[in-house]
Amino acid sequence: MPRILDASDAGDIDTAAAMLTDGLLVALPTETVYGLGADAGNESAVSRIFAAKGRPADHPLIVHVDSAPSARALAGRWTDSAEILARRFWPGPLSILLSKSDLVPMVVTGSRPTVVVRVPDHPATLRVLRLVREHGSIGIAAPSANKFGAVSPTTAQHVLDDLGDSVDAILDGGPCSIGVESTIVDCTSEVAVLLRSGGVPSEAVSSELALHGLTLVVSGDAGGTADPSRAVAPGMLVSHYAPRAAVEVFATRAELEIRRRRLVDEGRSAIALPYDDDTYVYSRNLYATLREIDAQGCDVILALLPSSEGLGAAVRDRLMKASAAR
Ligand code: TXA
Ligand code: MG
Repeated sequence: MPRILDASDAGDIDTAAAMLTDGLLVALPTETVYGLGADAGNESAVSRIFAAKGRPADHPLIVHVDSAPSARALAGRWTDSAEILARRFWPGPLSILLSKSDLVPMVVTGSRPTVVVRVPDHPATLRVLRLVREHGSIGIAAPSANKFGAVSPTTAQHVLDDLGDSVDAILDGGPCSIGVESTIVDCTSEVAVLLRSGGVPSEAVSSELALHGLTLVVSGDAGGTADPSRAVAPGMLVSHYAPRAAVEVFATRAELEIRRRRLVDEGRSAIALPYDDDTYVYSRNLYATLREIDAQGCDVILALLPSSEGLGAAVRDRLMKASAAR
């Protein structure tokens, strides 16, 4: 059993930081989803992340740090777009892709010359990140703390259910407030590119850059290429974020209802994902609800796509990926 640490307890936060410094794996709460953390400068600790998740070694990890200056030290070139976005959105659900400095080991980036960095907005995790930095760590590498390809965890219990003994401790910081992963923006050049929609709406990223005369390129549907060699961020592969049951998505309630009746007539069990007009509420509950429905063991989960406003684009993206043929 992993140690369960309490994020509201100062002593437990110290313990989490000390375990990370010692090369152990600690799951950390963030505002988006729980991350499976290891000291980014410790290659054997980072390797254990891949083993615990069952994740291919060429899938790069996000490095979490406590401040923009700490992120800057990991970048080969810190661009204007990175500076503008870091100042506006950190701490927060935004991750920035940059060329990497020599400080970042290749095992973290899947042998790429780039690194993704982020300052998460969770008080306990920010404190952990500051403590490990004071012990000389470059940052904490942390993918979402789920098995590869599965739905991301938004509670400590989800992490325990997925990873069990393969994680040394879980810092329990309660349910995640955003509930979907961070937005990833490629800031390697002055023309920023949206790589993954997420917790910061792309409109907000666009307008912040525009204030400074810079542009965000948003390709039709962020991510969603079926060809792994073409995916800039491997997490953007279709058929990611998938529960066990098949997922089908619908633009209207009427279409969803027709399909549900048909499935029931065929003797298959179908459950409709609870929908909320508020895309922030839909997003916060998305993964927990998918897990709950999955636990009931139905054949098909029917989901209504939200509008792409606010967090709707991220929710749409995750639902589309969950519904992609497996
Ligand atoms: O909200 C989040 O971003 C959460 C929390 C824990 O911070 N983390 C997360 O990590 O979602 P993960 O590993 O599940 O997704 C990170 C994505 C992956 O799709 C990965 O391929 C991409 O970021 N990525 C990381 N480093 C990269 C790099 N150097 N080049 C291209 N893509 C990269
Ligand atoms: Mg993930």
